[in-house]
Amino acid sequence: MKVVVIGGTGLIGSKLVERLRVTGHEALAASPDTGVDTLTGEGLADALEDARVVVDVANAPLWDDAAVLDFFQTSTRNLLAAETAAGVEHHVALSIVGADRLSASGYFRAKVAQEQAIEAGGVPYTILRATQFFEFIGRIAQSSVQSGTIHLAPVLVQPEAADDVATALADIAVSAPLFGTVELAGPEQFRLDELARRVLRANDDPRPVTADVHARYFGAELDEHSLTPGSSPRITTTYFEDWLGRAASRG
Ligand SMILES: NC(=O)c1ccc[n+]([C@@H]2O[C@H](COP(=O)([O-])OP(=O)(O)OC[C@H]3O[C@@H](n4cnc5c(N)ncnc54)[C@H](OP(=O)(O)O)[C@@H]3O)[C@@H](O)[C@H]2O)c1
Repeated sequence: MKVVVIGGTGLIGSKLVERLRVTGHEALAASPDTGVDTLTGEGLADALEDARVVVDVANAPLWDDAAVLDFFQTSTRNLLAAETAAGVEHHVALSIVGADRLSASGYFRAKVAQEQAIEAGGVPYTILRATQFFEFIGRIAQSSVQSGTIHLAPVLVQPEAADDVATALADIAVSAPLFGTVELAGPEQFRLDELARRVLRANDDPRPVTADVHARYFGAELDEHSLTPGSSPRITTTYFEDWLGRAASRG
């Protein structure tokens, strides 16, 4: 079956393309690097020819409020129109656990706008809301620096490995559309500030991490459960310390 992976050159996308190919599917990695741009529509019609499924794991290159909203709204609109024209049977998209609770953040508002466009778009769909990737914790810390100190709210997180997110998406892509949203989360909970300390320590990064209840997370203040899944998420298998050990051995 032909599956087009929008953002197929990115962190999740490249892993997903690999998994689909290993299981015998024709997976096309679509991104500006391969001549497909969802924002302008360039290359979309050709890429979608004979495709049965599209998985959208693209991310916006710019995260200021207006640019990120435009990226997810315009890209999703262009993509759904091209899918309708091509007769695509299933649109799968990757969103974020808690997106609807963090409307003070322009990035999360844009992800909710993406979800709403999919729900209204007329193409059978499944939305997977994932928690923070282990691979993303360093970037969260980097975006939270104030005068050389990293300020993070000590709230609960249930992060997961990008490999496991790609595996879940590969399964969803070859299953029937759910016309709904499922959540995916890691096997353990942590405090966000403590998790960042552990990642920084593993990277020999000496910067201190301060627990700060008012620290903003991509523009939004967090409460204890802003980032945790609801009552019945799918649970992934990789534990943080195992991932950290594997990341260290890869150098
Ligand atoms: N980070 C987290 O913890 C987390 C948690 C839950 C969900 N998510 C969601 O996961 C998704 C994927 O994240 P990621 O970290 O894998 O992203 P990433 O590594 O930054 O990759 C982004 C991909 O999007 C592509 N792209 C950018 N502009 C495009 C355009 N105009 N048209 C088509 N493709 C375009 C890029 O292509 P080029 O390389 O050619 O530029 C790249 O392949 C995002 O939607 C994010 O919201 C993230």
